Amino acid sequence: MNCNIAVIPGDGIGPEIVREARKVLDKVGEVYGHTFNYEELDMGGCSIDKYGEPLTDETLEKAKKSDSVLLGAVGGNVGQSHWYELPPDKRPEAGLLKIRKGLGLFCNLRPAVLFDELSGACPLKEELTEGGFDFVVTRELTGGLYFGDRYTKEVDGVMTAVDTLTYNEEEIRRIAKWGFEIASKRSKKVCSVDKANVLDSSRLWRKVVKEVSADYPDVELTDMLVDNCAMQIVKDPKQFDVILTENMFGDILSDEASMVTGSIGMLSSASLGEGTLGLYEPSHGSAPDIAGQNKANPIATILSAAMMLKYSFNMLEESDAIENAVKAVLKKGLRTIDIMDEGKTCLGTIEMGDAICAEIK
Ligand code: IPM
Ligand code: MG
Repeated sequence: MNCNIAVIPGDGIGPEIVREARKVLDKVGEVYGHTFNYEELDMGGCSIDKYGEPLTDETLEKAKKSDSVLLGAVGGNVGQSHWYELPPDKRPEAGLLKIRKGLGLFCNLRPAVLFDELSGACPLKEELTEGGFDFVVTRELTGGLYFGDRYTKEVDGVMTAVDTLTYNEEEIRRIAKWGFEIASKRSKKVCSVDKANVLDSSRLWRKVVKEVSADYPDVELTDMLVDNCAMQIVKDPKQFDVILTENMFGDILSDEASMVTGSIGMLSSASLGEGTLGLYEPSHGSAPDIAGQNKANPIATILSAAMMLKYSFNMLEESDAIENAVKAVLKKGLRTIDIMDEGKTCLGTIEMGDAICAEIK
């Protein structure tokens, strides 16, 4: 297969982790007989510095024409970087929101897996996580609070800020279908998370999710309030298979979920829409403090590339080969600094990429 991948290295550690993911993709190409062509695009702070905006329309068009997009990370240190002196819609993160919306990527999958080899890094008590856990947050990505009307203005002499949270039934239905589809290929459990005791948008959410569930009789549906869910993730993470939720709740819960795996440097993500074009990126940020020092963990980006092979190119065996290579490397005791443990061997970003490539045969 011949695939054209738009690559957005971005800011901070972005370029160095993306470089390793490309290396691994090339190795997969070599072993399985595929050609991956890359076109590098600017987004985030580096785009602001070149073009005065975090994502130009021209760059977005190029991404649209690609078969899939691989992203490192965007942004810098708020309060330190000159990018944050700009108005909010001109900052690095605005580029991320624009590309998600522009490519129609309404479904964000964030797996939270406790790797056996890294169970020591999990901050939860051992008895809560024995045998590991494996769930995926399915987050609605192009609606809700992050895309509603917002303004700040003086009302009767008092500064007032307004953000609006809107969902229509179609937006809910299409993400709910994804949640059930994913669950039907996993352990067949959807936990739909909302705040239906307060919010109208959540009451509609709950109603539509229930309707969609009728088409998936072998998937079990439960509803959970978001505050309770935040608690359950640290109390009993093993109960979850697919957490299905709206944009802001998913943003918050997926960070919590990544933390209980003990290793945000390991977590991949996929943003998907109606077609096969997706955007794949690590769940962590741009870590400007360690950029350019060969210290960053490239595994989350490499696992994101594995998700790309699976969801955009339907290369299931190739995707598994990457996941197994990561597990093999961990089993050998190889670590980057963020997941380093006593008696293990600490590698740099490049050496970790090499070690994973060497396991793909
Ligand atoms: C994420 C990030 C983004 C989001 C920000 C940077 C806009 O937190 O991908 O989770 O909230 O979607
Ligand atoms: Mg977030």
